[in-house]
Amino acid sequence: MLIIKDKTFVPFITADAIQARIQELASQINRDYADRQPLIVGVLNGSVLFAADLMKHLTIPCEITFIRVKSYTATESTGELKQILGLSEPVEGRDLIVVEDIVDTGLTICDVCNQLRAQSPASLAIATLLFKPAALKKPVDLQYVGFEIENRFVVGYGLDYDGLGRNTPDILVLAS
Ligand code: XMP
Ligand code: MG
Repeated sequence: MLIIKDKTFVPFITADAIQARIQELASQINRDYADRQPLIVGVLNGSVLFAADLMKHLTIPCEITFIRVKSYTATESTGELKQILGLSEPVEGRDLIVVEDIVDTGLTICDVCNQLRAQSPASLAIATLLFKPAALKKPVDLQYVGFEIENRFVVGYGLDYDGLGRNTPDILVLAS
């Protein structure tokens, strides 16, 4: 059990299950990219542990970089868009694998991918540790998914509640 401020979180996905699944995802990526040299793009802060554990099991030659996304309000009526910060590597012609902690509504990953696609990569794939299909608001093509989960708030292993709780090896869920 984990108490953060006013909320109680209970065990959900164990560290062992997370690590086993990450090894499977890495094996899949190693097979799929056997003849390519992808650029792994981790989305901070949430993906930091997932990206680190995933890359330990990649045996293909690959480069790794991190970006942050910053919310800003669009001038049109499209709602809130995310601006990519910190990407200094050229993306054109590269095989990108965007690494996220969680796809919830899908709005963040869609914004990020649209902006990356505008820079003409050779290919773009998404690896997300968690996916909440019931929360999805925009269709998104996910190539590597760790766990599909129900629409409940989770913390741990990179995911936070109000900035806290990222530093656990397990994932916990808000007690109902
Ligand atoms: P979406 O897909 O809705 O996700 O654009 C945006 C970001 O929101 C965070 N997020 C969560 N963080 N527990 C968390 O700790 C959750 O259940 C959760 N759902 C979404 C996450 O940073 C994601 O990138
Ligand atoms: Mg995130």
